[in-house]
Amino acid sequence: MKIIQSLTDYHNEYRRSVEQPEIFWADIAGDFVWKTKWSKVLEWDFHKPEVKWFIDAKLNITENCLDRHLPQRANQTAIIWEPNNPRDEARHITYAELHREVCRVANMLKAHGVKKGDRVCIYMPMIPETAYAMLACARIGAVHSVVFAGFSAGSLTDRINDAGCNIVLTADGAYRGDKIINLKGIVDEALQKCPDVKTVLMAERTGTKPPMQAGRDYYWNDELKKVNEICPAEETDAEDLLFILYTSGSTGKPKGMVHTCAGYMVYTNYTFRTAFQYREGEVYWCTADVGWITGHSYIIYGPLSAGATTLMFEGVPSWPDWGRFWQVVERHRVNIFYTAPTAIRSLQQAPLEFVRRHDLSSLRVLGSVGEPINEEAWQWYHKNIGKGKCPVVDTWWQTETGGFMISPISDVLPLKPAHAGLPLPGVQPAVMDEQGKEITTSPAEGRLVIKYPWPSMARTIYGNHQRFKETYFSTFPGYYFTGDGCRRDSDGYYRITGRVDDIIIVSGHNLGTAEIESAITEHSSVCEAAVVGYPHDIKGQGIYAFVVGYTMPPELEQEKLRQEIRDTVARIIGPIAKPDKIQFVSGLPKTRSGKIMRRILRKVAEGDTSNLGDTTTLLDPNVVEEIKRGAIG
Ligand code: WT7
Repeated sequence: MKIIQSLTDYHNEYRRSVEQPEIFWADIAGDFVWKTKWSKVLEWDFHKPEVKWFIDAKLNITENCLDRHLPQRANQTAIIWEPNNPRDEARHITYAELHREVCRVANMLKAHGVKKGDRVCIYMPMIPETAYAMLACARIGAVHSVVFAGFSAGSLTDRINDAGCNIVLTADGAYRGDKIINLKGIVDEALQKCPDVKTVLMAERTGTKPPMQAGRDYYWNDELKKVNEICPAEETDAEDLLFILYTSGSTGKPKGMVHTCAGYMVYTNYTFRTAFQYREGEVYWCTADVGWITGHSYIIYGPLSAGATTLMFEGVPSWPDWGRFWQVVERHRVNIFYTAPTAIRSLQQAPLEFVRRHDLSSLRVLGSVGEPINEEAWQWYHKNIGKGKCPVVDTWWQTETGGFMISPISDVLPLKPAHAGLPLPGVQPAVMDEQGKEITTSPAEGRLVIKYPWPSMARTIYGNHQRFKETYFSTFPGYYFTGDGCRRDSDGYYRITGRVDDIIIVSGHNLGTAEIESAITEHSSVCEAAVVGYPHDIKGQGIYAFVVGYTMPPELEQEKLRQEIRDTVARIIGPIAKPDKIQFVSGLPKTRSGKIMRRILRKVAEGDTSNLGDTTTLLDPNVVEEIKRGAIG
C-alpha cells in the first residue's frame, strides 16, 4: 500500500481510488494474509442494497492481527492496559502473549459449544479479557455482539434476543472511577427474559463474588485452566459476519449493524495508518470504550492489524482528578491521542494546572470523533494539549461506515478548525439538496450521502434487511444516506453540521428520541412524551423531554416525578439516556393528522421562541403558548 506523504500523494491516490476503485483496493488488500485470494474485488447494487467485497476470498482476521506479526514483533507490546486506579500497575501485553491468550479463550468458547457463525454476547468492562474475547470469537468464526457495559438490563435483554445469542461473556463487576458497577447482577436480571442463553462465562475483576447459577454460570479462570493454547484460525469467507453492533435508530428499537470480515479488516487498517500516519513503535491511545464502534475499529482491529501498540484505559477522565488523561499520556509516552469533543469540553472546564503538571511532549497527533467539534474546543485542544504542534484529526464516520470516511490526514492535509476535511481515498461523498438532487458545485449545503461503496460499510441490519434499505437507501435512491447535514466549502472541505433525523448525540453517544420517549412512557403517571435535543455546553446535546401526565402534577410533586422518570429511563435504556430537562405540559403541539411538530419543541428547548414559524396547521395552537411559558431555561 502506498503511504500518503504529501498533498500531491493524496490527490493522486484519491483520483486513482475513484477512477479505478477495484485496482486501488486490491493493491491495499495485497498486504494482508489470505487463505485464498478473491476472484473479484467488488459487486454492488445500492438499490437492493447489496455490497460484497473481495468475493470468494478466505481469511481469518486474527491471523492478520496476531499470527503474522509474531516473526517480527512477538515481544513488542500489543496492548498497554492502564487500570482504573492510577496506583495499580499497568500491564504490557506482548503480541506473543495476546496470541496465546486469544487462542486459550477461543478454546474455552469451543469447549462451551460455540461454533462458527454462533453469536456471542460480550458485556464486559475495559479489561484485557474483553479484547481477548472479541478476538477469540473472530478466531473461531463466531460473531461477537459487544454491548456497552453502561447499558441497562432491559437494553441487554433486547440485544441478546435480537442477535439470538446463547452465551454471554461478562465480568463480576466494573470499576469506573470511585464506583463499582455490578455487571453480573445486570446480566442475571437481563437473562430472566433470555430463554436461549445457556451459558455465562464470568471474568473476575472486582472480586465481588456475585451469586452463580449452577449449570449456567462459570468462572472464566476455572474454565481457562481446562484448555490449551493451540487454536488454529478458522477459515472464514470474506463476507462472513465478523460482528454485530447495535446503534440507535430514529424510530423503533436499536439496529444491529452487521460488519463482515475482509472489507472491515482492510478498511480499518488502511484508515488507521493513513489518517494518523502511524509510525512503527508509536504508542496510540483511543479513549473510547470497546462497546462502541470506535473501540472495535480503532482500539482493536485497526491498530492490531497494523502491528501497533494500542492503549486500553479502564478509568474515567475525572478520577482521581481531572489530570488523569494527561497522567496516562505522560506515563506511557503516548504519541497519538484520540478522544471525543465531549471529553475535551469537560477537560477544558478544569483548571489548566491539571494539564501543565504533566509532560505531554510525546504527543504527535490528536484525534477527535463522535460529534461536530466546536471551534473553541478545537482551539483549546490544539493549543493546550498539542502545544500548537499536533494536527487535530477530526474523523467523521459512523457505526454503519465501520471506519473513518472524511478526515484530515495528519501532517498532510492543511487543517481547518472544526472541519472534518476531505474524504479519504475510496470515499465518494455528495451533498443533496431538498429536492433530492446532488449539488455538484461548491460551496454547498445539504444532506450528506455516499455514492459508491467502501469496504467496511455495514452490509445489513441483523435480521431486517428491509429496515436497512428503508433507513439508508430509500431517502435518496441509489445513495447511502448518512442522516447528517453538512456544508462543503470552496476548497471541498466538509463540515458536518449534525443529524437531520430524530437521533441526538449526547456526550458522543447516539440516542434515538423515539426510544427515550418510549422509556419515559413506561412510568405509570406518563401518558405521552416528546424528546428533542438542545445545545449543551459539555455534552454537545442535552436531552429535553416534554411530558404529558394523566393529570398535571402539582408544582410540589414535580421534582419527585422528574427523578422517577429519570430513574425509569436509566433502568430501561441506561444512565446515558436520562433527560436533562423535563417539562410537564398538558398537551403536545400536533398537526391535524396527529404528528408532533418537533420543530416547535426544538425551538423551545433551544430557548429561541421569538419565531416559531407557521403554527396554523396545529390542532390546538394554545398548547404552544403554555409550552413557551413553562420552558426550562
Ligand atoms: C454520528 C455517528 C463514529 C464513531 C462514533 C460515533 C456524528 C461522528 C463526527 C465528527 C461531526 C460526527 C455524526 C454521525 N459524528 N463523528 N467527527 N464530526 N459529527 O458513531 O454512534 O454511529 O454516530 O456521529 O452525526 O452520523 P455513531
